[in-house]
Amino acid sequence: MIGFMNDLSSKAAVASLYADDHFPEFLEDLKHLARIPSVSFPGFDPKEVVRSAEAVAALCKARGLENVEILTLPGAHPYVYADWLHAPGKPTLLLYAHHDVQPAGREELWKSPPWEPTERDGRLFGRGCADDKAGAVAHTSAIAAWLKTHGSLPVNVKLIIEGEEECGSDNLEPFLQKYASKVMADAIVLTDTGNFDHETPSITVALRGIVALDVTVRSMDHPLHSGMWGGAVADPVLALTKMIASVVDAKGRMTIPGIYKDVKKPAKAAEASLKVLKYTEKTFREQSGLFKGTKLMVAPKDLLRSNWYWPTFSVNAIQASSKKDCANIINDSAWAHMGIRVVPGMDPKKVLAQLKKHLQKNAPWGVKVEFSGETANPSWTTNTDAPAFTAARAALKKGYGKAAVDMGCGGSIPFVEPFAKALKGAPALLIGVEDPLSNPHSENESLHLGMFQKAIASAVHLYAEIAALPSVK
Ligand code: BES
Ligand code: MN
Ligand code: MN
Repeated sequence: MIGFMNDLSSKAAVASLYADDHFPEFLEDLKHLARIPSVSFPGFDPKEVVRSAEAVAALCKARGLENVEILTLPGAHPYVYADWLHAPGKPTLLLYAHHDVQPAGREELWKSPPWEPTERDGRLFGRGCADDKAGAVAHTSAIAAWLKTHGSLPVNVKLIIEGEEECGSDNLEPFLQKYASKVMADAIVLTDTGNFDHETPSITVALRGIVALDVTVRSMDHPLHSGMWGGAVADPVLALTKMIASVVDAKGRMTIPGIYKDVKKPAKAAEASLKVLKYTEKTFREQSGLFKGTKLMVAPKDLLRSNWYWPTFSVNAIQASSKKDCANIINDSAWAHMGIRVVPGMDPKKVLAQLKKHLQKNAPWGVKVEFSGETANPSWTTNTDAPAFTAARAALKKGYGKAAVDMGCGGSIPFVEPFAKALKGAPALLIGVEDPLSNPHSENESLHLGMFQKAIASAVHLYAEIAALPSVK
């Protein structure tokens, strides 16, 4: 057994050297994918997501994966599937990433073009360079390193690269109905989260869920001159802002009756790992870019705990008229997109109902309120008892030269919960390539290149570590 592991370890070391030598090629793979504006949001050209899926599929083939297929469902953006299944008797890993991205945002704020990946200060800047095309390329690169050096992998792998994560993964259920047996595996490896910092490899053990909706407020059928009509007419913008403001108190805590009632305290293991991580207000301010005079909404000691384990309300966009068309009018309508990040204990459907009820109740002056685009995704947590986690820690240690930490994540990945369930409780290893300076969803998104290389090395080692386990679960 020991000899077997040594053999596997040395094979992994050889493959890892190959990955280092060929890192420039893998970086080209990433740049190639990141030039495609595969925005999955409604209103953006879905053909670009198709083009992106085709590019991912071509990359899978070029890097030695087999049975490459674009998986479609009515009304869904395409997923890419590929596998390599020639390690009989060995575990099968389902490797996940997503190839769709967020919109570029305000193009004028980008220091280099969003769709032309550009290296600067040891980072690669461009939309999707971190979230999450780097995730896809981490997988294809680690696989290529094994296949090029040894002609085989020590485990079986199935790759699934989703095309609609950023718009809420609305088709996971029909996807599972159609493809559950195709994606069956012993463990899941998701590369769509971050590291605590660019030097510290991290395993994400908790994700917040998300409840979100669009709210439109109307009070009449067309805008009115604010001088001619102002005073007696209910202003939809004022109504909507009052409704939004009613969701939180002066300290920013939610005021929706009963909203915190179901919130569970972080598990013991989570508290223990929170203790290990040193995180100061200074670091938080540096990483987030928060202005000096802007107050923190939580006590400094609760910065991580609140981000990972407390629910929060946010307003992501708000619109009525526009800067360009701003005239002296009372708008006929006002719109906002908002949501609540939910944590263990909270039922997302219930939270959505509570939020809607509260908004409706606080709508002043008899204005019309319409809700649309509702989503409700649960939070996710895992214990780390499964042997797969021991393998992951060993692999991260080898790839980064530093022990891995457990962390939570304030963001959400809708795929995780239903797939872990469908795969009959297969352990899910969330090991990512983002870092606190990646700026995903914002302008000037970037990937730390030194860290990316280590992430690929860790993925190379992970296959060997998993193969050496008597059992992954
Ligand atoms: N990769 C992120 C999740 C994430 C966020 C990981 C923060 C690490 C740190 C993912 O692409 C994402 O943005 N998810 C959405 C989910 C939503 C669209 C349902 C999110 O969290 O807003
Ligand atoms: Mn992502
Ligand atoms: Mn994202």
